Amino acid sequence: MRVLVAGATGVVGQPLVGALRERGHRVSALVREGSRERAPEADEVVVADALDREALSAAVAAARPEVVVHQLTALRLLRDDPAGAFAQTARLRTEGTAHLVEAARAAGARRLVAQSIAFAAAPAGGPVLDEDAPLYTDAPDPGWAATVRAVAELERLVLGAQDLAGVVLRYGTLYGAGTAYARTGGTAQRVRAGRFPLPEGGAGVTSFLHVDDAVAAAVPAVESHVTGVFHVTDDEPAPAAQWLPHYARTLGGPPPRTVPADLAPRLLGWFTAHQLTTARGAANDRARTVLGWKPSRPTWRDGLGAE
Ligand SMILES: NC(=O)c1ccc[n+]([C@@H]2O[C@H](COP(=O)([O-])OP(=O)(O)OC[C@H]3O[C@@H](n4cnc5c(N)ncnc54)[C@H](OP(=O)(O)O)[C@@H]3O)[C@@H](O)[C@H]2O)c1
Repeated sequence: MRVLVAGATGVVGQPLVGALRERGHRVSALVREGSRERAPEADEVVVADALDREALSAAVAAARPEVVVHQLTALRLLRDDPAGAFAQTARLRTEGTAHLVEAARAAGARRLVAQSIAFAAAPAGGPVLDEDAPLYTDAPDPGWAATVRAVAELERLVLGAQDLAGVVLRYGTLYGAGTAYARTGGTAQRVRAGRFPLPEGGAGVTSFLHVDDAVAAAVPAVESHVTGVFHVTDDEPAPAAQWLPHYARTLGGPPPRTVPADLAPRLLGWFTAHQLTTARGAANDRARTVLGWKPSRPTWRDGLGAE
């Protein structure tokens, strides 16, 4: 099939181009002008900024894809400019997605696969939730509420696009090369420096996902006929009290010191405090049964912090 990957220089997008080509697809890599030299080996490279409607439309039209994959985020900026990273990512999820849907339809594509996140659910109900759980659009932190509303808009646009079969892959918290949890990543550095304390109880649940499995799940999402929302997460949603000390040990850092839960937002920022105290995990049963994907790394215990 002819497949266009938007975000082809990304942590997921780059290896995905190679994985799709290995499956025999003809892959167009969409990159920005300034990122051309980092473009992966592809059958074709097309150039556009996703926030430039006309340029994107022309680039997608030139590629004539049957399937479009949306792996656009600006989360790489997180370490240096967290507010900017979230604001720009929200624009990519709303305006960028709208542009991509329009361009895909105009080019005659019949399928759109988009990256979303598995940790946007409201913290209600059991410790591990399925895809039908409500999103945390009314989170008390305005920044996170805006992020979740942008996620909801991306999902609405992808699943509601006329004439396009939509698939939303809600990735768990990514680890592995190039991610924030890699040994050189921003989270690892904070943990190693002892600047990532564990709020008392550590009951917030995280569902992790190795980058290789994020790539592997996108392949059947491109090739199959299924539509809908899928949690793409490993098999072991874990409370912070379990994964954080394990991660610190693997990184060779000090054991995380315990702090009172009510101090956590000030010490860690609202989102990380939420992740470690109240967040829910995400069950992957639907991806297993409907998408036919299962993680090659069923547990974070075997690799989180190792690379
Ligand atoms: N589920 C999760 O935990 C999760 C989800 C997403 C991201 N992250 C974190 O974010 C980091 C990267 O992950 P990722 O694969 O989503 O992001 P990424 O590696 O930064 O890839 C994003 C892609 O979007 C492209 N892009 C950004 N703005 C664009 C624009 N205006 N027009 C066209 N293309 C644009 C980037 O291109 P350029 O090369 O031109 O910038 C890049 O190819 C990792 O540290 C990861 O841990 C985590």
